[in-house]
Amino acid sequence: MNILITGGAGFIPSSTADKLLENPSNRVTLVDNFLTGLKSNIPIHENCKFIECDVNNINQIKLIFDNNQFDYVFHYAAMVGVLRTLENPIGVLEDIQGIKNILELSKNTKVKRVFFSSSSEVYGEPVHLPQNEETTPLNSRLPYAIVKNVGESYFRSYFQEYGLKYTIFRFFNTYGPKQSPDFVMSKFINLALNNEDITVYGNGSQTRTFCYIDDNVEACLNTLENDNFANDVFNIGNDKITTVLELANTIIRLTNSKSKIINFPPLPEGDMTRRQPDISKMKQILNRDLLSLEEGIKKTILLRRI
Ligand SMILES: NC(=O)c1ccc[n+]([C@@H]2O[C@H](COP(=O)([O-])OP(=O)(O)OC[C@H]3O[C@@H](n4cnc5c(N)ncnc54)[C@H](O)[C@@H]3O)[C@@H](O)[C@H]2O)c1
Repeated sequence: MNILITGGAGFIPSSTADKLLENPSNRVTLVDNFLTGLKSNIPIHENCKFIECDVNNINQIKLIFDNNQFDYVFHYAAMVGVLRTLENPIGVLEDIQGIKNILELSKNTKVKRVFFSSSSEVYGEPVHLPQNEETTPLNSRLPYAIVKNVGESYFRSYFQEYGLKYTIFRFFNTYGPKQSPDFVMSKFINLALNNEDITVYGNGSQTRTFCYIDDNVEACLNTLENDNFANDVFNIGNDKITTVLELANTIIRLTNSKSKIINFPPLPEGDMTRRQPDISKMKQILNRDLLSLEEGIKKTILLRRI
């Protein structure tokens, strides 16, 4: 299979590439503009090609589609991070162009299916828990969430009008060794390992769920490998709830750290108080238990780059 992954120098996209490259019959092309991605994330493998490219720029991305016949595309590139997306709302909205570029080029070159990384943010501040793909209303107002919501709509519409197959993944908090250090899990782990204070916004009672990267990648790739679950939307996450404060304490305990927890004023917006996916659909794909938080934290510490 000839596969394109956008955002390929990023955490989830490059981890997805690592797994795909375990199969010697896969050819993987990665594109990234290094907005948040890292060269060191890109797999070094004879079946992997990297091209620097901004997917929001039609000329750059068209050239890549013109020179390759992709069977499948994972559109995972996006501006990410709570603070970055709050500070750059117009830049975030430009990602709508990238989604349109990928869909148009995929349609024109007869790609068999496009996979899209949406986000739990489409649910906004939840009206009920757990958040279910069909029954929970989408309540998104911030540009990052709106782009994902509009993106989902584009995917459904390209299928409706042109028959371009898709699978939408609504990722909930995912973590693992390659995650950039400005996300809560990797930030807390780095601080704990250095015995530095861990800052928590508000009193830390906001609840989160944390999905280990292998569970994310395996579930998503199963839909490709078994050629099923097309034209559908899936929550991809872990449904075990923990508070941000409990997370900090667990990391301090597992790393035997001397770090102290310091409380900062709550963020004015973008820091959801509660989140929990209904993962009954994901469990149909994965067909095994998810990794526990403690095991995932231990694996992340063991496999992280120093
Ligand atoms: N990690 C999570 O918990 C999580 C949760 C919800 C959704 N997501 C989604 O999953 C996807 C991957 O996120 P991640 O956590 O791996 O983040 P990441 O920052 O590690 O990866 C995103 C990659 O996209 C690249 N990129 C951004 N804009 C680009 C552009 N215009 N052209 C080319 N490359 C571009 C970045 O440089 C980066 O390498 C994103 O779409 C994100 O919205 C992630």
